[in-house]
Amino acid sequence: MSSPRTQPSRLWDTAPATPQTLPAVAILTDGPELPPTPFYLLDETRLLHNLKIIQTVRERSGAKSVLALKCFATWKLFPLMSRYLDGTTSSSLYEARLGHEEFGGETHAYSVAYTQQEIEAVSAFADKIIFNSVSQLQRLRQYTGTVPLGLRINPAISHAPYDLADPCRPQSRLGAANLTDIQSVIEHLSGLMFHCQCENDSFPAFARILDHIDEHFAPLLASVEWVSLGGGILFTDPDYPLDKFCQRLAQFAARHQVQVYLEPGEAVVAGCGFLYTRVLDVTRNPTDIAIVDAGVEPHMLDLLIYRLPATLASHQPPGKHPYQIAGRTCLAGDIFGEFHFPQPLKPGDLLAFADAAGYTIVKKNWFNGLPMPAIVIRRRDHTLEVVQTFNYTDYKRSLS
Ligand SMILES: Cc1ncc(COP(=O)(O)O)c(C=O)c1O
Repeated sequence: MSSPRTQPSRLWDTAPATPQTLPAVAILTDGPELPPTPFYLLDETRLLHNLKIIQTVRERSGAKSVLALKCFATWKLFPLMSRYLDGTTSSSLYEARLGHEEFGGETHAYSVAYTQQEIEAVSAFADKIIFNSVSQLQRLRQYTGTVPLGLRINPAISHAPYDLADPCRPQSRLGAANLTDIQSVIEHLSGLMFHCQCENDSFPAFARILDHIDEHFAPLLASVEWVSLGGGILFTDPDYPLDKFCQRLAQFAARHQVQVYLEPGEAVVAGCGFLYTRVLDVTRNPTDIAIVDAGVEPHMLDLLIYRLPATLASHQPPGKHPYQIAGRTCLAGDIFGEFHFPQPLKPGDLLAFADAAGYTIVKKNWFNGLPMPAIVIRRRDHTLEVVQTFNYTDYKRSLS
């Protein structure tokens, strides 16, 4: 599941600085020190800001946070992130292994469906294994050794702006839904996982979901030691009522005598990532079109999946020259969006798109054989470090 950002980028916020206001981002300008485009830029200062909010939630509520690797798995940043998060959660054996090898802390292993071999492999290092269904739990429990087990519950209540990303949509396969079935295996479980939110920036909506869980699942909660409330809560957003959030989490933990976990992905990296590209060509039909050295489908896939325009981070405020900014794949709809520029665009101009951290780098692909953007970290001292590059050999190896 993906959770693209629907809100306008807050890059240009002029709100007074509060502990929750993201530090302003310095959009890179052209210069000899700039790596070749395209590249993803990850801003460590902004990441640290989000990480500190996560730490605050931990301190005030007791809720532990594990990073959802499906959203963000740039492991060169794990040494910093692991100082503020309790570990990782995963959607597959490979993600679980990456979390165990590179992040440390607690490794939660979840998958929509495991093979026996995967369960045996993951049991060697996972701190918790979370099954998606009662039938998988029954069939594979025997291969898990002494690893504490959890079960994902489908609570039949959710908050998701897109049907595609709604874990509780009709006929959803995500989580066990039948209370009698769940009761029949509760003796094997040390925890339960409820992931039913996507891009939820509303505290009242979160509180309603928690009230529902309180009300409908209290007898199950009484039997377990830990409860994961999943991801999809945008609690690092500016103006999110952190005090109320922490109070509600602490109250839930106390009422049910459980350790609460959160599985943030997007909330960890919101506002931290950019895709830097350069204009390669300017054409007209009948309006002006600028083609850049990247593509939406290979490099910002969620925009296509959820039919969203990109957010331009450079060239703000907008000017009076309109352009369609398009990618260089063969897909007719490979379009980043329509933007206004202060001056006419020309080949070589640098453009940066925001919201390129979560569900972006993890989804990049080799469509059309385009160069894969390098991964660059802007360190806290503002130096740029190219932490990964990709070349023709990587492309060739990905095919056969
Ligand atoms: C089980 C589970 N946990 C956590 C997450 C992370 O959600 P987000 O990145 O929206 O916080 C997801 C996203 O799909 C998920 O499926």
